[in-house]
Amino acid sequence: MTKVFNWAGYYKAHKERKARDLLIKTFELFDKDKFNSGIAYDLGCGNGHETHELLKKGWRVTAVDNNENVSELMKEIIDEYKDKLEIQISSFENINWTKCDLINANYALPFCPKEHFEFVWENIINSLKVNGRFSGQLFGDRDEWDLVRHTKDEAIKRFEGMEIEFFDEIEKDDKTAIGELKHWHLFDIIARKKN
Ligand SMILES: C[S@@+](CC[C@H](N)C(=O)[O-])C[C@H]1O[C@@H](n2cnc3c(N)ncnc32)[C@H](O)[C@@H]1O
Repeated sequence: MTKVFNWAGYYKAHKERKARDLLIKTFELFDKDKFNSGIAYDLGCGNGHETHELLKKGWRVTAVDNNENVSELMKEIIDEYKDKLEIQISSFENINWTKCDLINANYALPFCPKEHFEFVWENIINSLKVNGRFSGQLFGDRDEWDLVRHTKDEAIKRFEGMEIEFFDEIEKDDKTAIGELKHWHLFDIIARKKN
């Protein structure tokens, strides 16, 4: 049976929170390159906390989500940063891509329909400029949800030709945002596109 996700419940649970640590770590890596801000995509942006953080740092952001309610959730951010923010209410396979310096995808890509994932991944890799970064999560093969899942080797292989700068495997039983107990298996990844 296909699982139906309660995104309204998720957005409510995540209403107030800081930007994710993985994005902060990604900023540190860009800082080391003396690269402060560029063009970013935030895939599956949800409430927009990471989009907001990117904008505050001076990045131009295309925030993508197929849930049209995110426009309302992000209303204040949109009003404040209208010159630097584009919202695409779109599924991952229909994104309008341009070359970019960062693709941020927090807890998002596993939800891509399996039949579209290869195409979406190809677009991600092709859209990154040299020295651009991917920052986000892939789900592992032991994750409880039957979404797009990767073994550790498969996850690493996704970044062939790139430098994996951060890779953390997480496996735990823990609650979801809406309070359901779940077996989590995921990889936090930051990778840089090489020449
Ligand atoms: C778990 S939430 C993560 C939101 C945010 N990135 C965060 O870290 O809190 C996943 C988001 O991806 C969006 N999403 C799910 N499937 C999608 C798809 N096929 N195309 C675009 N967005 C999708 C959902 O609407 C939701 O906002």
